[in-house]
Amino acid sequence: MAKNEIKNIDYMEKEELIKQREPFIERVLIVDDDPMIRDYIKDLFNEFGYKARTVSNGTDAINILSKEYYPVVVTDLFLPDIKGIQILDFIQEKGGHSVVLIITAYSSADSAIEALRHGAYDYITKPFSSQILLHRVTRAMEKVRMDSIAQSLASRIVYATEEERRRISRDIHDVIGQSLAIIKLTLKALKNKLPQTDDIMSEINGLSAHVEETMEEVSRISKELNPSWVVDVGFSKALRLYLETFSTKTGIQVSSALPDNLSFKDPQFDIHLYRITQEALTNIAKHSDATKIEISLEFRDSHVHFSISDNGKGFDESSDDRKRGLGLIGMRERATILGGRVSIKSFPGQGTTVKMEIPYGKQDS
Ligand SMILES: Nc1ncnc2c1ncn2[C@@H]1O[C@H](COP(=O)(O)OP(=O)(O)OP(=O)(O)O)[C@@H](O)[C@H]1O
Ligand SMILES: [Mg+2]
Repeated sequence: MAKNEIKNIDYMEKEELIKQREPFIERVLIVDDDPMIRDYIKDLFNEFGYKARTVSNGTDAINILSKEYYPVVVTDLFLPDIKGIQILDFIQEKGGHSVVLIITAYSSADSAIEALRHGAYDYITKPFSSQILLHRVTRAMEKVRMDSIAQSLASRIVYATEEERRRISRDIHDVIGQSLAIIKLTLKALKNKLPQTDDIMSEINGLSAHVEETMEEVSRISKELNPSWVVDVGFSKALRLYLETFSTKTGIQVSSALPDNLSFKDPQFDIHLYRITQEALTNIAKHSDATKIEISLEFRDSHVHFSISDNGKGFDESSDDRKRGLGLIGMRERATILGGRVSIKSFPGQGTTVKMEIPYGKQDS
């Protein structure tokens, strides 16, 4: 998408595109080198109404998974060519959208536990009954379905928020901005009509200066809300302006290592990275009691590595507090829209670090 097209983006249309990115079909990929087990499971799943496909080795499984989306993968850990763990790692690298169920011999429970550490959802030991296998796969399928509903809701929130900001930005600019301009002109006219005493003139001049400042602030807020502005000035410039204001308002010291004049070829990057930073910084101001923030952005291994750390009080990620707001959900969703992910490391008393890793071929300046 060209930069100048961003102004015309209909966010609702975009939302539809996102919803379509992974149509949910109940497909299962079965990876096992034993033809009897493979065919038995395949027939079982097909009879149950799933679309099952089989492969006999890990390399074929990875090839298929790199081209097609399977919500559920059922795999043996011991394959003739590569380890089943490598399939798990491949899925995690791709963003972990498939759920993996491991089939293992009772004697290899340790490797099943290792598989869980590599992101497997569940495991089942041989010999197993068809009911148990179907029950586990149905549960796995349900998890993917619920995750995809949650993600589509999160996308809606992100796009609805952006659309709402655009509307508010327009209203602030058109309604409040114009009212202030009229007040400014009226004050100017009034100044010539009123008695020219020092007292009156000083009040009028004070009021005019105040209106002028308010106009500047209104213009800044309206620009910052409008996603087109971020794209127009470019990510690093928009961010620097934001950081300056943030630091002045909050008194929190911000040091940033950002490439100069950075803006992205795909304007979605400018907008989403900017909003993620805004949310992370708003969280710091609201929740952390931090005195320092460090921000860094670099390009490495075809990825944008972006990190925001504070020295505040941190929080317990596993506590219910985490579920209260929409900010962290929105941050994750924006990163997902860009094909990447966000990780948040925080411990009570030890500050918080928000890290993003987003695939991006090439830097533009
Ligand atoms: N930098 C931080 N330092 C300390 N606590 C944090 C930090 N960032 C997030 N939190 C904690 O994580 C919770 C969830 O953050 P999130 O942004 O999702 O919600 P919120 O800020 O409470 O509400 P919202 O963003 O919807 O206005 C916060 O309520 C807070 O307890
Ligand atoms: Mg928040």
